Amino acid sequence: MSEKATIEIKGKKYEFPLLVGSENEVAIDIKTLRSDTGGVITLDPGYKNTGSCESSITFLDGEKGILRYRGYSIEELAEKADFLEVAYLLIFGELPTQEQLDKFEADIKENSLVDDDIRKIIDAFPKSAHPMGVLSSLTAALTAFYPRSVDVTSEEAMYKSIVRIMGKFPVLVAWCMRKKQGLPLDYGDDNLGYVENVLKMMFKNPNRDYEQNPVLIDALDKLLILHADHEQNCSASTVRITGSSHAGLFVSLASGISALWGPLHGGANQAVLEMLEAIKEDGGDTKKYMAKAKDKNDPFRLMGFGHRVYKNFDPRARIIKKAADEVLGDLGVEDPILDIAKGLEKEALQDQYFVDRKLYPNVDFYSGIIYRAMGIPVEMFTVMFALGRLPGWIAQWREMRMRKEPIGRPRQLYTGATYREFKTIDKR
Ligand code: ACO
Repeated sequence: MSEKATIEIKGKKYEFPLLVGSENEVAIDIKTLRSDTGGVITLDPGYKNTGSCESSITFLDGEKGILRYRGYSIEELAEKADFLEVAYLLIFGELPTQEQLDKFEADIKENSLVDDDIRKIIDAFPKSAHPMGVLSSLTAALTAFYPRSVDVTSEEAMYKSIVRIMGKFPVLVAWCMRKKQGLPLDYGDDNLGYVENVLKMMFKNPNRDYEQNPVLIDALDKLLILHADHEQNCSASTVRITGSSHAGLFVSLASGISALWGPLHGGANQAVLEMLEAIKEDGGDTKKYMAKAKDKNDPFRLMGFGHRVYKNFDPRARIIKKAADEVLGDLGVEDPILDIAKGLEKEALQDQYFVDRKLYPNVDFYSGIIYRAMGIPVEMFTVMFALGRLPGWIAQWREMRMRKEPIGRPRQLYTGATYREFKTIDKR
């Protein structure tokens, strides 16, 4: 498209190129706005209309409820691929051949040992520490053990760091949970697949063998795939912006983990379950909580509802709702919280407030119910999200560095005091 956008400022017209993405999304390229106009900037708190980069990793259409990783639909990937295949796809751009996948898996296993000194760091945390804080700290701490920044001009150095973190991260995840439970911090089993190994590391009791349950393996595999990437969300943008200062991969990921922790982002899965529990304790009166969510004087929000981008439905939520029914059925778990969740969803979808604002269940509305049925404690839910999101963050970081993106540094519209003369303390 050779069309241009014209912006008129104080009677003067400026032209800017219109860029078109591969799915026909259009962007005004305002790179030269400030220099052309002598200082005018755009203001867009929360970046609701601002693209921060060009990216070829994930496409989503919030109106149509489409989510694709590297062109492949989330529905097909969740049904037909496994998590490591999806991780490879996200990071390297193509689905792996069997040979590539075997090598990727073997290299990850080769790098799955964590320096034993990390245990000392974990020991210094109180048992009450939230595992997201512990995970973020441990991921940053890995930098101390591998101090060299990744040489992004070397495919080999990139690959080495990627398989290193893919190998060590599940160990850290399991250790975060076991520390809280007072269980020994063990390593995984190289004979197992990635997801089976995660489950064994998390749940193996020291006094008995761990028996794998195919229902849990399938469910976790699916959940990790559904969470694996979501283009320029809060945590992915954080990873990119931290990495844009040429900070290393592990600390960039640690900053992404911190961003994910918040209840408006990944922390919503914990918040949803806590909310559903509270509704249950309060007699299951969903109408009361619907009213609270709509009351502008009440800070309560219906957690797991609404999304910055999806304004019709979140395709991940559909897959997870179905999976929640299947997993609970297969495990023979009857959870009254699932009924409360379904009741809330039904009411919200018919309620004018939610309809007008296009608020639908998001990925996290049902995921906590599955995690709970799997025996995962509620404080670990966002950690499980981080485990799934790891390849997405890596892919975003790698793309940002390989495209040689400039350091991320937004502008501002200053609204503070103009120049004031300093007064010494006796004159204030
Ligand atoms: N419950 C009640 N009202 C809501 C909710 C909700 N969950 N979400 C949005 N609204 C209302 C807002 O009050 C606002 O109303 P108004 O126009 O009358 O002022 C309107 O809907 C628009 O909401 P915004 O906050 O402006 O939308 P935004 O795109 O900035 O926020 C967000 C999206 C953060 C996800 C929001 O919907 C929310 O807080 N949801 C609950 C938390 C949650 O589930 N987060 C997980 C997101 S998915 C993820 O990160 C993996």
